[in-house]
Amino acid sequence: MKIFIDTANLEKIKEANSWGIVDGVTTNPSLVSKENTDFKTLVKEICKIVNGPISAEVMGCTAEDMVKEGRELSKIHKNIVIKIPMTKEGMKATKVLSSEGINVNVTLIFSASQALLACKAGARYISPFVGRLDDAGQDGMKLIAEIMNILDCYDFETEVIVASVRHPIHVVEAAQMGADIATIPFDVLDKMFNHPLTDIGIKKFQDDWEKCASSKAPAK
Ligand code: E4P
Repeated sequence: MKIFIDTANLEKIKEANSWGIVDGVTTNPSLVSKENTDFKTLVKEICKIVNGPISAEVMGCTAEDMVKEGRELSKIHKNIVIKIPMTKEGMKATKVLSSEGINVNVTLIFSASQALLACKAGARYISPFVGRLDDAGQDGMKLIAEIMNILDCYDFETEVIVASVRHPIHVVEAAQMGADIATIPFDVLDKMFNHPLTDIGIKKFQDDWEKCASSKAPAK
């Protein structure tokens, strides 16, 4: 499974990328609004750090505006993926951009029927939001299972990005279901490294090594 980092913060992207496990980046307007930089400059900087798909979202509401923005954003770098919301206008824009060879990530997917329509429109990626479904009292991971079942039956080239990830268990379940990608906030990615037995194990190895090293020290 590929791992994307879900942030627009350059320091966090640099740090996570240095861990050797980041395959791409997703941003959204809320994440970008937290950074005090011009959108296109920010996206350009992200492309310099991570050599993989970088999602940048359009803000227009009509297909015409989305296509225009998508074409502009795609000129920034070959790795740019245009993020488009799951609306009828969004699907019209997805069809146009994908037929021009521009990769589209259809975002704000909350049902299997939406996922199917996005695949039909030519989306390279679809982003079902599991955490927001959980927040609304539905089972977000159940949606991933449904989507993976549908995609198993056909030859769509669409990859599933498990989005709105809230904790490491979302990621593990996504991997067990065969999801292609999870896009993970920095703090969740950080938590995935931790296990108390790893810390205890390292300390014991170090203590034992120290004891052994002092007992084997040459006599003065
Ligand atoms: C996905 O691409 C979105 O940026 C993101 O996962 C949304 O997550 P949130 O529900 O934590 O805002």
